Amino acid sequence: MDHDLQGRKVIVTGAATGIGKATAEALIAAGASVALWDTNKAACVPLVENTDAKALALEVDVASSASVESAMKQSVEALGSIDGAFNNAGIGIDTVPIEAVEEADFDTIVSVNMKGVWLCMKSQLKHMKANGGGAIVNNASVAGLVGLAMQGAYSGTKHAVIGMTKAAAAEAAPKQVRVNAICPGATRTPILTHLLEAGISEDMLAEMAAQKRLAEPEEIAAAACWLLSDAASYVTGAAMPVDGGWTAH
Ligand SMILES: NC(=O)c1ccc[n+]([C@@H]2O[C@H](COP(=O)([O-])OP(=O)(O)OC[C@H]3O[C@@H](n4cnc5c(N)ncnc54)[C@H](O)[C@@H]3O)[C@@H](O)[C@H]2O)c1
Repeated sequence: MDHDLQGRKVIVTGAATGIGKATAEALIAAGASVALWDTNKAACVPLVENTDAKALALEVDVASSASVESAMKQSVEALGSIDGAFNNAGIGIDTVPIEAVEEADFDTIVSVNMKGVWLCMKSQLKHMKANGGGAIVNNASVAGLVGLAMQGAYSGTKHAVIGMTKAAAAEAAPKQVRVNAICPGATRTPILTHLLEAGISEDMLAEMAAQKRLAEPEEIAAAACWLLSDAASYVTGAAMPVDGGWTAH
């Protein structure tokens, strides 16, 4: 990790496993203070014990406004202020055609993947706009750039994340807040279970990428950290593929 994030104060949602965990580790290694939000606080605790910088782990459900508002208050109290956020928490859904999606499953995925990002941005933008600026990165997906067959509801939430990212970027630029999205391709994390259980193998997923392999979580974390850092000072409103060329062909 070669981005200078020394002294930055960054929220990472969904930090217990996968891409969020790798990003939390990269931010800590780059000198940032972190507030790790996850429904699985226990898995975040060892990460915050492994840093000399101020850091905290919180039990947070990003789909609940009360939970997010309380976490924001505790994070600002503990770190002094917040100038970065990686809104990464997300869930998958069964691999089925759109007409077979259960209403309850649709509501659940919208509440975490779409409403969760909105609620987090809502509290973060209020704070950053009033405190001199910052950078927000939302974790979308290649499924936010193209329609992913048999993942219609998931694809819908990720297109929504990109739409909200662009609108927020336009609104927040005058207050020195940058807002971007990353769009990972298939990445080796627990969320892939939804595809693997439906018979979509790692080889099939690798074949989708021009680079013919899956990403490791650390490769996605590197892109998130770059967008959070001042190295990306003129980048806002972008939906950046980090997909080994999946959407390039
Ligand atoms: N792995 C991939 O191939 C891939 C590709 C594109 C995008 N993504 C996106 O990356 C993000 C991270 O996923 P991952 O692949 O690391 O999977 P993951 O399942 O390893 O991580 C998801 C994390 O989010 C947390 N979480 C789930 N619901 C939550 C809630 N309501 N409140 C707070 N935390 C919650 C989980 O506890 C977990 O720690 C997701 O938004 C996912 O859609 C993943």
